[in-house]
Amino acid sequence: MSADIYNIKPLTEDPKRYEDVYYNVFYKIAQKDVVLEKVNQYFDTKVIKMLTDVFGRDEEFSLLGVGVGEGPHEFHFLKSLQSYYPSICNVAVDPNEGMLQTFKDRVSSLNTNGKGSVSYDEFGGPLSEFVAGSPLAKKKYNLITSIHSLYYTHTGDFETTFTHMTSMMIDNGFIIIVCKNDSLNTKTFHKLPWLSESTQSNERLSSKTVREFAEGQGYKVTTVDISVQWDITELFKDQSEFGDKLLDFCTQAAYFRQTAPSAILDDLIAFWRSISTQDDSGRVFAPAHDEILLVSK
Ligand SMILES: C[S@@+](CC[C@H](N)C(=O)[O-])C[C@H]1O[C@@H](n2cnc3c(N)ncnc32)[C@H](O)[C@@H]1O
Repeated sequence: MSADIYNIKPLTEDPKRYEDVYYNVFYKIAQKDVVLEKVNQYFDTKVIKMLTDVFGRDEEFSLLGVGVGEGPHEFHFLKSLQSYYPSICNVAVDPNEGMLQTFKDRVSSLNTNGKGSVSYDEFGGPLSEFVAGSPLAKKKYNLITSIHSLYYTHTGDFETTFTHMTSMMIDNGFIIIVCKNDSLNTKTFHKLPWLSESTQSNERLSSKTVREFAEGQGYKVTTVDISVQWDITELFKDQSEFGDKLLDFCTQAAYFRQTAPSAILDDLIAFWRSISTQDDSGRVFAPAHDEILLVSK
C-alpha cells in the first residue's frame, strides 16, 4: 500500500516536534533515564578500561557521535574520558540543529571543570552528507557512538550506515551502538510496513539484525540487554496531548492522530491494547528491550 495516500509527515521533518516528542514524552515513558544510567554504568565499568588499555594518555582521544541529539550519553562519556585524556576531539553529527545546540552548550561546560580539554565540531545534517562532503569524515576515530539513531541514518539500510561508521573507526577502535531489541515501535512497524517508507525511518530494525551483520563482517560484538516496561496509558486517551506525542513517537509521524485515516488509527490502538497489560490501577504497560552493542575488530 502506498504511504503517500495517507499524507503522513515524517517526524524528523518537524525538528521542533521531534525534540519535544523525544525528550519530553518518549524519554519519560521509555524510562530513558534508567536506560541512560545503565549505558553510562556499562561505559564506566567496562568500556573505559578497554579504551585506556588500548589508547595512551599522550595521544589525542577522538569521539564521533552519530545522531547525537542533545547528546546525553556522549556528554557522560566525554566527562568520564576527561579523567584519563588531557585532550579530546569531539565531533557530533545530527540533522536536528536545535538538539545539537543543547549538546554544544553541554560540551562547553566541560572546559571549565579544570580537567582535560574537549573540542567541539558539529555537522548539522544527515550522516550520508557528512560522509560524502565533510573533511571531518576523513579522520579516524577512537570511539564512535550511534545511540538510538541507526533507524534513521539510512532508511531500510543500516548496513550502509554501519559500513560508514567502521570506515571512520581507527583500527583498534570501538563502536557503541544502542538499538531496540523489541519494543512497541518495532511491533508497530512490523504491523504497518509502509510506515518505514513514509516516515523515512526503519523502526523494524532490531539489535539482533545489527549484531548478525556486524559479526558477518568479522567484528566482535558484546551485547548487554536492558529491559523496561513502558507506561503507555495515555496512548488510549483521545484528548491527551501527551498521548498524541507518544503516538507520534511510536509511528515516527508528526501529528499522526490528526493526519492518519481513522480506520488505521482505530486498528492500531486495538493492536497496541492487544500486546499490552493492565495493572489493578488501570495503568497500561508494554514490555520493551534495548541492547547495547560494543563493536570492535
Ligand atoms: C531517537 S533520537 C536519539 C538521540 C540521542 N542519541 C539520544 O539517545 O538521546 C535519534 C537521533 O537521530 C538523528 N537523525 C535522524 N536522521 C539522521 C541521519 N540521517 N543522520 C544522523 N542522525 C540522524 C535525529 O535528529 C535524532 O537526534
